[in-house]
Amino acid sequence: MQEKTIMDYETVDIDLQTKELVIIDQTKLPYSTEIIRLSTAKEIWDAIYLLQVRGAPAIGVAAAFGIYILATQIEEEEFALFYEKFTEQKKYLDSSRPTAVNLSWALNRMDQVCVANQDKPHKELLEILEKEALAIKEEDTWVCKMIGEYGLSLVKPGDGILTHCNAGQLATSKYGTATAPIYLGQERGYNFHVFADETRPLLQGARLTAYELHSSGVDVTLICDNMSAMVMKKGWVQAVFVGCDRVAANGDTANKIGTSVVAAVAKQYNVPFYVCAPTSTIDMSLEHGDLIPIEERKPEEVTEMWYKERMAPEGVKVFNPAFDVTDHALITGIVTEYGVARAPFKEAFEEIFRKKAEK
Ligand code: MRU
Repeated sequence: MQEKTIMDYETVDIDLQTKELVIIDQTKLPYSTEIIRLSTAKEIWDAIYLLQVRGAPAIGVAAAFGIYILATQIEEEEFALFYEKFTEQKKYLDSSRPTAVNLSWALNRMDQVCVANQDKPHKELLEILEKEALAIKEEDTWVCKMIGEYGLSLVKPGDGILTHCNAGQLATSKYGTATAPIYLGQERGYNFHVFADETRPLLQGARLTAYELHSSGVDVTLICDNMSAMVMKKGWVQAVFVGCDRVAANGDTANKIGTSVVAAVAKQYNVPFYVCAPTSTIDMSLEHGDLIPIEERKPEEVTEMWYKERMAPEGVKVFNPAFDVTDHALITGIVTEYGVARAPFKEAFEEIFRKKAEK
């Protein structure tokens, strides 16, 4: 019997019997694969904040399951009273991380379904919420598959591909976004050579991307974040694929800190830079990237995490933004589940949303 790998686990799941959110604790990877079960608002909030579940689409799915689980715990059945509690919990979960728009996108979708079905008997309303949360997860798998197809059309067999952070299966329901073309290419014999940036300070590239690609038999080489210019200058990289947490209407894109450096380097060496973005991450309400809220995290993630002892002088100032914004001018294309958007991005997104509405 073949041994189970990390790819055989569900990143985010729900136990419908016990009404628990079931996730892989990603803070423990790659050393140990621990599955944890969460059911209180605090546990779910902490899991998102502490990055036990992370990556924009996975956060969205966890929030959808989370709000459904919390809805089943509300004792009031009369809609107005139920909805007051539901809204409180929704706001609480929404405050766990600010940058990935999938969090509020999924919570708002659950909210809309709740309001639209307020006349239904309470039990039926809960069943509808359950169905919606499951649909969000299922759609995410389809979305990643489609991003894989469109992404694959942009590269050729034997290409070198560089990626930053983890926009892999561990960040989604399945396949990942930036990794979807890689997995699909592997199935079709493309023999890609992948470079995974380690991604300081939380090492999502080393701990998660290198881990999942290596476990899947993909030819992956781990590099430090400051090596992208070296490998691009040598001609080893034919395309960059990264994920994103929020895309503004003009195509400016927030993704893990360090992404914009990779984009600038790619421009310098004429390497196409593609952002893989489910339409759920496109936020047309924000005109440009300066309006995207950027999460700042604890200084200790930079000064001491992963080291045997603290590596920075006590009292030194630390700046630890979790994301940066890549200017749209550095982006060759934004790969969505409805096709590849190219500049001018606003018009391209409008076309993509038209296609989505027609579906
Ligand atoms: O802080 P993280 O690990 O949640 O950051 C994740 C990223 O930046 C990913 O690239 C992004 O969420 C896209 S995941 C498909």
